[in-house]
Amino acid sequence: MRIQTERLVLRDFVIDDWLTVLAYQRDARYNRYYPDRWVDRSDDEVRAFVQRLIDGQHEKPRRLFQLAITLPETGEVIGNCGVRRKPDTEWEADIGYELNPECWGRGYATEVARTLIAFGFRELGLHRISAQCNADNVASVNVLQKVGMRLEGRIREHEHFQGRWWDSLDWGLLETEWAAAPDR
Ligand SMILES: CC(C)(COP(=O)(O)OP(=O)(O)OC[C@H]1O[C@@H](n2cnc3c(N)ncnc32)[C@H](O)[C@@H]1OP(=O)(O)O)[C@@H](O)C(=O)NCCC(=O)NCCS
Repeated sequence: MRIQTERLVLRDFVIDDWLTVLAYQRDARYNRYYPDRWVDRSDDEVRAFVQRLIDGQHEKPRRLFQLAITLPETGEVIGNCGVRRKPDTEWEADIGYELNPECWGRGYATEVARTLIAFGFRELGLHRISAQCNADNVASVNVLQKVGMRLEGRIREHEHFQGRWWDSLDWGLLETEWAAAPDR
């Protein structure tokens, strides 16, 4: 599977992508809102992580659309994003995204999230798309707001890592809201 956005290509993962994913997932900037144990993920863990994404490509019908974010000029993998159908429903999925910190601040995550939402509503026929982020993760909050997601709730002290409690935010967007939005 391959989706061309304005500046990026989103494509299915291949196993050789694991080294590039490992390199940015070990970056301290990337790990700021993730549990401590993520920082020292082993080669085997990251290879298994990429393999799980590849396994999802063969599920029938496919439920996990987790794609490598790449630069069209060089083919370099700069991140990971996805639309994941929720278990036991045909009408809801959630989205997620992450980028190599070297590529932050260029509007890429916003471009990717818009594309995932359009894919989910147009191609998968979803009724509702949701997302969850760490409440302190301002960059992700900004992305979700910019693409029109509505804040639906705050889960207080939802996670504990790096020696403190963290709240999470729940976001949602209905197909009708997306279809009516002028800037989608
Ligand atoms: C969240 C993440 C994907 C954002 O990627 P990005 O490509 O830098 O985001 P964008 O460039 O599309 O920025 C979106 C908006 O957030 C703002 N923003 C980006 N980083 C910010 C920061 N650290 N603080 C405040 N605002 C920030 C941008 O200015 C932009 O708003 P603007 O267009 O009004 O200027 C990236 O920070 C990341 O990969 N983080 C680690 C993984 C992660 O947290 N994933 C999300 C899990 S829910």
